Parts: sequence; structure tokens; C-alpha cells
Amino acid sequence: MTLSRRTGLSWALLGRRRTSGPSQVRTRPTRYLSSSAPPPPGSWSSHLSRLPRQDLYRLSVTDPDRFWASAAADRLRWIEPFQRVQDCDLDRGRIRWFLGGKLNVSVNCLDIHVDAHPDRVALIWERDEPGTEVKVSYRELLDMTCRLANTLKTHGIQKGDRVAIYMPVSPLAVAAMLACARIGAVHTVVFAGFSSEALAGRIQDAQCRAVVTCNQAVRGGRLIQLKATVDAAVKSCPSVQHVFVSQRTEQPPVMGKLDVPLEEVMSSQPTVCPPEPLDSEDLLFLLYTSGSTGKPKGIVHTQAGYLLYASITHQLVFDHRDGDVFGCMADIGWITGHSYVVYGPLCNGATTVLFESTPVYPHPGRYWETVERLRINQFYAAPTALRLLLTHGDGWVRKYDRSSLRTLASVGEPINQEAWHWFHSVVGERRCPLVDTWWQTETGGVCIAPRPAEPGAPIIPAMAMRPFFGIQPVLMGQKGEALTGNSVGGPLCLRQPWPGMARSIYGDHQRFIDSYFRPYPGHYFTGDGAFRSEDGFYQITGRMDDVINVSGHRLGTAEIEDALDEHPAVPESAVIGTPHEIKGEVPFAFVVLKEDLSDDPSTVLQQLRQLVSTKIAKYAVPEHFLVVKRLPKTRSGKIMRRILRKVAMETGEDLGDVSTLDDPSVLQEILEVYQQHRKQRQE
Ligand code: WTA
Repeated sequence: MTLSRRTGLSWALLGRRRTSGPSQVRTRPTRYLSSSAPPPPGSWSSHLSRLPRQDLYRLSVTDPDRFWASAAADRLRWIEPFQRVQDCDLDRGRIRWFLGGKLNVSVNCLDIHVDAHPDRVALIWERDEPGTEVKVSYRELLDMTCRLANTLKTHGIQKGDRVAIYMPVSPLAVAAMLACARIGAVHTVVFAGFSSEALAGRIQDAQCRAVVTCNQAVRGGRLIQLKATVDAAVKSCPSVQHVFVSQRTEQPPVMGKLDVPLEEVMSSQPTVCPPEPLDSEDLLFLLYTSGSTGKPKGIVHTQAGYLLYASITHQLVFDHRDGDVFGCMADIGWITGHSYVVYGPLCNGATTVLFESTPVYPHPGRYWETVERLRINQFYAAPTALRLLLTHGDGWVRKYDRSSLRTLASVGEPINQEAWHWFHSVVGERRCPLVDTWWQTETGGVCIAPRPAEPGAPIIPAMAMRPFFGIQPVLMGQKGEALTGNSVGGPLCLRQPWPGMARSIYGDHQRFIDSYFRPYPGHYFTGDGAFRSEDGFYQITGRMDDVINVSGHRLGTAEIEDALDEHPAVPESAVIGTPHEIKGEVPFAFVVLKEDLSDDPSTVLQQLRQLVSTKIAKYAVPEHFLVVKRLPKTRSGKIMRRILRKVAMETGEDLGDVSTLDDPSVLQEILEVYQQHRKQRQE
């Protein structure tokens, strides 16, 4: 008996939409798979598709097992059906979904679509050079993935091995992710803007056996020496046995003894690679992200729950329909690229855009020219890019035909009113719903967004508004109690587990428990604050911890401080985030320099900029430095960043409660230096 039969639900609304229909796809299994039978033609399908959205939501939170079991049975192809929907204990950080089930993610993203429509375009690689896009069909992507998977296998990569992918978005990068998924290896994509030290730190933490990269990256007309960065990184990574190097440009890379020319080796590999049957809870990928303390953490996502959540949110939040071209501008180095460039769209058989360039190359009309040329239907971008583009005026938008657009969406940071209205009225001509989507690396997919909702339901500008199916937001009061009623604000938690949530921090499960489940027992703590409006809609107010958001990139201030403190002239430092018109936030560093310093302080500051750039990435370099004699500390020696934030925000003399300061005279000192710094900036 299939699960759909067992649960009695087969939901048209929750099933994947395909031209050929899910049942047809299922009854034509690929060679390797015993496919689950098609869902029964249940009366539920038609009944549920007519259900008001609120009723469906209510069902998803009152009977989550039934809801998710049906969605999983309908949307995913299983090699072996799961026996139990979930086994979760938030207090212990134990999260398991679809227990006993076996499947392969690459089969769900490729083979089933090749069976149904092999020539459909899976990827449109919008290369840096406009007008040179490359289209890759599902058939071609499956072939490429299998060749790459076989290449990994012949080089000894096995199920469970970690593979770092350090390359910008490209068909080969996507194939590398899917090749890992095919053989059960665990990928960890590292954003290609990270420095060699940051890359090395991630490779070491994950103990990667291989790295996939390319000779050079091309972005905004500039060449970036990726291979050289990998060479520097792997010197301190003894776990790495192979570096697979693809050729993005003509420039031949200098090949060392670890290096394998990727395309050359792939060309002699077969285009068939049997998919590894994987347990629902086997690891799919690690993605490193910043926390409020310590080094970046390797967020663990597993197979079935992640894929299901990415796919269902991709379809319903963005209103993706069969045949649409989905344009998510994110890089695959971030979770948005994982869930909404790769896994969600491909699982749904979509045509997904891989955007390699920048919003302003070769001119500020690049996004809209791309929308016109590729006929993009859903356009998903970061507020920082929109804020930048709106400074260039409406002419760059109006010049291009945007009639293909149906949904607009933003992610990564709060979207301000001005950017929201510009995006909605100028770009979308007021005809496209604009969805502000709130989520995190840890949540796997969108958790709060204006859609899905009843057709025509209002969207409040710059507000994430409604929880997705199965998501129950809770705002906490001062004593850790759940706030009831509306018009209240506080730390945002999620009460109930959902399939897409992270499972652990790689190698440090205790940190996982401490970061997310200890602050509010029985709840997942997001680190963000939120407000529930009079009408019960959610507005995200921003991080409540020491994580900042620079151009939509998440950064821990502690990471920057660690880099600064490595300089021999810096005994201590404190970094905070301050508002920036385009980037959202920028790091502001308060540094204490040694008293007996022989160098000129400006030389040291230059060295500090360089240090942050080499230890982390260019975007992490503080925009402002303030050299201070001392930092404000409590009697127990804790730096009071709250006060520094107030100084940098220029909230006048009102620095809040300073009674816990060890020595209040430090304040006057800092304010004086700040005033001088401000004067110099204005001059
Ligand atoms: C912030 C990105 C306001 C938030 C998908 C969160 C947002 C962090 C929004 C996660 C939004 C993301 N409105 N803030 N719509 N979306 N954030 O892990 O602070 O890179 O905790 O995931 O970005 O960043 P991450």
C-alpha cells in the first residue's frame, strides 16, 4: 500500500505540477528504481485544492504528520517508502523526518524529468557576458551529472565523503552538487568570494576529501583567480586528495600533483551512474554560516525533508507554474542558491536561471535586460541590489520589456519601504505580487512570506506576513513566555519542527542545541526579532545577536574581531553593525592599539583591512575604524557592544543604562574620538 493510500490524502495542491502529471511520471520508473505507485485518484485532491488557504494551514499545524506525509508521498519519488513521518525532540535537537525511507535527490531533480520531458531546459546559464547564455536540458544535465559522479567515484570518493565546491554558479557547479547527491557524497559549497584561509577553515572542519573548482572566475568583466586561492588553501588541508579543476576561461591553470582536469576526465566517463539509495536522514550537504560567536558553523541538511521543503516552498511561495522560467539571482554559495537556484526548481522540473554576473554589469539595466531576453517569470533578488539599482533611476528598468514577470520576491535582509515600492511599481508595474521572504540557512526554505494565500489576498509592503504551511511563529516575552495576542514584539521562535530544518552543526551537535534550542526550551530560536501586527501579520525587525548582514551576506562580528585581534598591535577590538544606505549594514570596528606602537596608526589600519580580507573576505572589511584607548566593559569584563552601537548610531548623549560599566569615564573618551572621526569623514 502506498503512503498516499495510507494517509488517505493525495493533494493536487501539494503535488508537483507537471505537464505530464505526476502519475504518468511515476509509472515510468528509471532503470534503477522501484518507483512508488501513483497516488490514488482520491476525492481529497479536488477537495483540498478548493480548501481555503487558512484551512490548509490549520491542518498543517494541527496534523503535521498527515500533512507532510501526504506531501512527501506525492511530491518525491521514493526507492523505499518511509515508515514513520517524524521523530523530533526539539529540547535535544533531535530532528528526523521520513524515517526508514530511501530515495535519491538527484533522481528527483533529474531522472524523473528526463523520463517526462528530456529536452526541457533545466538551466539557463546567464554568463557574465550578456547575450551569451547557455541552455542545458534535463537530459544534458543528467549526462553531465553522471559523468561527474563517475569521475568522483573513480577517484575514490564514496558515500559520506565531504566534497568542497569552490566555484561560481555554472552548469558544472550544479552538476557537481547533484553528482555528490547521486553517489551519497556530502557537498559543501563555499562562496567563491571567500579568501583562501576561510576556504581552508571550512575544508578542515568538514575534512573534505576533494575540492571542485575552476581555473578562473569571471564577474563584472573581471577575472578572479580561483585556482590560485584553492592552491593556497589546500596547503593546510591534508584531507584533500584531489582538486578537480574545470576551465571557465581559456587560461590554462598551473596543475599540481593533486589536480585533475575535470572536463577532460569527465569526457571519458559513462553518462550513466546508478543512483545510490540514500536514507532520508543521510547528509545531503553542509553549508557554513556565521553565528554570534566562534567560527562559522557547518549547518547540516539531509535528504528527503530538505528537498521536500525546498520544492514545496519554491512552487507555492513564488507561484511557480509548469513551463515557467525561474530567476533567482543568488549565488550557489549561499542557502538561497541551494534551495531556489538548484534543489527547489529542479525538483519541480523548472527552468532555472544561473546568474553569473552583477546587477550593474555592463550597466545598471542588466537584470531587466536579462528578464526580457530570458522571459523570466519569477524574479528573486536581494534588497541590497535593488537599493543600488534604484539610485540609477527608472530609465534603466523601463528600457526593457518586463511583461513576462509574474512574481517578484526579495530575501536576505529587511527590505525598506522605498526599495519595496520601487521594485513593486517600477519593476513590476504594480501587477506582480511582491513577496518579502524570511528564512535562514538553518530553516532550509522560506518560513514566512506573503504567499501562498487566498488569491488576491492583500500584501503589506515590506512585510513577510504569513507563516508557511507547518510553520508556527512564536514571539517571546521578557521572561521567556510566549506572547499572546497581536501588536506585540520579541525574539522570534518557531514552535513546531518542519521537514526543511537543519539537523545539526557538523561535528558539534552540542553547539546546535545550545544555539537554537537552549534559549527557549521546546522552540527553535531564530536569532531574529519580530513584531506581530494588529492584524496578526509578522514583520521581521532584525537580528538580536551579534550577527550582521552586509549586502545580504551574513557575518558574525566575532569573526571579524578574531581577525583583527591577530594583528600583534591589536590587544582587543569590538565590531558592530551600523546602517548603510545600499549595503543595509556595514561593520564598524573599534580597535585598541598597543601603547608602545612604533608604526603609524594609519599603516596598522591598512594592515587590518588586509587582514580581514585575507582571513574572511573583502565584504567583511570594516567600513569604519575607530582607534580607542579602551573599550566599554562591564565589571565582569564583558564588552558592552550596545553602547558602541549607540555611539556609532549617533543617538546623542542618550546611551541608555550605563550603570553596569566598570569605568564610566571610558564613554567620554570614546565619544570624543568618535566626534573627531566624524569631522574627518566630513572634511
Ligand atoms: C536575515 C538567508 C528580514 C535574518 C536566506 C536571518 C531577513 C538571516 C529576511 C539569515 C527578510 C533573511 N527580512 N531579514 N525577508 N531574510 N533575513 O542564513 O536576519 O544567509 O536570520 O539566509 O538573514 O541569513 P542566511
